[in-house]
Amino acid sequence: MTRALCGKRSPCSWLVLGMSLILLTACQANAKEDGTVLTFSGSALGAEGTLLALQLERFMRENPDLHVRVLRTPEGATQRHQLYVQWLNARVGDPDVLQLDVVWTPEFAAAGWILPLDRFKPAVGDFFPATIEANSWAGKLYGLPWFVDVGLLYRRTDLVPREPRNLDDMVALARAAQSRRGGPRYGIVWQGARYEGLVTTFIEYLGAFGGRIIDDQGKVMLDSPEAVRALTFMRKTLYDDRIAPLDVLTWHEEEGRFAFQNGNAAFMRNWPYPYAAMNDTAQSRVAGKFTIGPMPAAPGGKSTAALGGNQLAINAYTEHADAAYRLIAYLTAPEQMLERAAEVGQYPSRRALFDDGRLSAALATPVEQARRAIESATPRPVTPIYTELSEILQIELHRALVRQAEPEAALRSAAMRINALVERTGMRELMSKKAP
Ligand code: GLC
Repeated sequence: MTRALCGKRSPCSWLVLGMSLILLTACQANAKEDGTVLTFSGSALGAEGTLLALQLERFMRENPDLHVRVLRTPEGATQRHQLYVQWLNARVGDPDVLQLDVVWTPEFAAAGWILPLDRFKPAVGDFFPATIEANSWAGKLYGLPWFVDVGLLYRRTDLVPREPRNLDDMVALARAAQSRRGGPRYGIVWQGARYEGLVTTFIEYLGAFGGRIIDDQGKVMLDSPEAVRALTFMRKTLYDDRIAPLDVLTWHEEEGRFAFQNGNAAFMRNWPYPYAAMNDTAQSRVAGKFTIGPMPAAPGGKSTAALGGNQLAINAYTEHADAAYRLIAYLTAPEQMLERAAEVGQYPSRRALFDDGRLSAALATPVEQARRAIESATPRPVTPIYTELSEILQIELHRALVRQAEPEAALRSAAMRINALVERTGMRELMSKKAP
């Protein structure tokens, strides 16, 4: 607007910019004088940013004593985690409300960085039990589930006529799509950078081959033959089948979405969030030309979706705990979740909404299918040492994928290092199924 009025770099534009800054500062100062300023950090992937701005506007209209300011944080899960750890280690009270990945709550709770929410008496029975379990630590609840993520396989319906029957069939279908005249450059894209997203992608291949990270006794199972087969398969899709581009080894969720949305891939592994944005003809070349389904299995394994999702928690160093909870209660209320399902495509964490006709109207996926996917999704270990565990796994998986190590050696090393970590921290009992 400044540019349209005054032309590029004119003194006038600097004047308007300066005045806007003064006005902005004045507004914030006013909000501070008249009420409480809450700071919040939330993701803005796909259509999430627009929806968040809309819901915050509405919250401020309904709560005129509160002003919410959004602090932008990196979109990659691991990078956001690093920033939070720096802030909280320094006992900074901002953001008052934190968006947390489902795997961070026990770590943040054990460190004393977030407040227990029990005193606000949230109706925990309304949420999917796995999401409440992931947000509990030492018998207390520390985060309220905001939305649930499950890993999905996106498929171009105009290029691939049917769902793959198994993983080998997926490779065959991807190659067939790539070799069509005018076919896409890539067969499949996924999250392969060295960060948390790679672990979630791997969990799905691992389950597809019948493996798991930790067994019911808390024993690390990463050196199993199933795990080796899973990682070998992922590597084969990169170098032998050439259905996945080597680029995926630096890609997060958004790079994959852009490739798929621009018509460059037959399949994509991703979460539900890209759904709405990719059906928007203004930004997507594949609107109306794709569908979602489960990741396929290999013989002997089962179709697996990683359980993801994000929570809202209160910074332990906030001066506005009650106001912060008002914001959390608002954003996790049924109406806001239904709107999120309709506008972004993300799944509500409130189980009861899956019996509500409004959700079937809002979601593109059949509601029963979404509910089954959530209830059967594979969680990552719920433990305060999750970040260290994941970092070891990320490094070893990535080493194998870039061919610096053989899958077997990388996984043996991951198992050994993670077992040593579990031993050193005395976490085995807690991470077994026998744990209370
Ligand atoms: C999504 C999921 C989260 C996962 C992350 C990995 O944000 O909700 O659980 O860890 O992606 O990139």
